[in-house]
Amino acid sequence: MSKENIKHLISLADYSNEEILELIELGEKICNSPKDYAEVCKGNVMATLFFEPSTRTKFSFESAMLRLGGNILGFSDANTSSVKKGESVADTIRCISYYADIAVMRHPKEGTPKLASIYSQIPIINAGDGGHLHPTQTLTDLLTIHNYKGGLENHVVGLCGDLKYGRTVHSLIKTMARFNTKKFVLISPEELTLPDSLKRYLNDTYDIEIKEVRYIEDVIEELDILYMTRIQKERFFNEEDYLKLKNSYILNEEKIKNGRKDMIIMHPLPRVNEISYEVDDDKRAVYFEQAKMGLYVRMALIIKLLEVE
Ligand code: CP
Repeated sequence: MSKENIKHLISLADYSNEEILELIELGEKICNSPKDYAEVCKGNVMATLFFEPSTRTKFSFESAMLRLGGNILGFSDANTSSVKKGESVADTIRCISYYADIAVMRHPKEGTPKLASIYSQIPIINAGDGGHLHPTQTLTDLLTIHNYKGGLENHVVGLCGDLKYGRTVHSLIKTMARFNTKKFVLISPEELTLPDSLKRYLNDTYDIEIKEVRYIEDVIEELDILYMTRIQKERFFNEEDYLKLKNSYILNEEKIKNGRKDMIIMHPLPRVNEISYEVDDDKRAVYFEQAKMGLYVRMALIIKLLEVE
């Protein structure tokens, strides 16, 4: 395959709504019948290149490839690779292209997976680049929403926490907007509001109501989905600012008592302290199921990018 014809996943903006729905549908099929897909990637190798820590994304990708019958290699500490000697991402990916059939990359610097895709002979999947995007988390979120709410359209979506640095929020909001979201309710401290550029983009592109508030309790009754996020300590420039904001939201049963019975509470995880453990027993809390969905949608994505279905 020539380099121009290789399909990557850097941003879901490069995918049509139909392609996204196809991935969701395939993810659902795999979830219902995983054994049917046990051999489809036999003989293929996936490289996981993690320049930043991860539990769910890395392990779910690796588990996905193994469950599809493929093999995995990679690193979770770039200091064990020749990057430590000063090798560029471009040279690294050129060589990895000879050893693997598909690569998954997480990097603290925005745009690095995109740069890798320019030099790569194999599909590159963006597993999170700085505070920019996290498209496979968004696919995970969409599969969860589709599963619990029966579809992606006409929801009132509340996003709470670090809306400034949270890449999962940036990816999700841009993609949900394409599926006729009824309303976005942005819940954050003033210091961590959604970037103005993203708000402008939403206002210029879609006719979706956007409401900004400080407290969850003020809006809980109107939400179909409450998407909690962690305050992103690693993206702050100084510890003092983080310490000031780290306890901004601690969701507990009291705060969600007026929420709808069919509301779902999501979180990309990891959580630090923004959801009390008591909420885990609430039937509306779906964040661990959400982490499970990540496995199936990543299996679907690998199948599609390797064209092995
Ligand atoms: N949701 C998510 O990206 O989790 P990890 O950082 O553990 O991969």
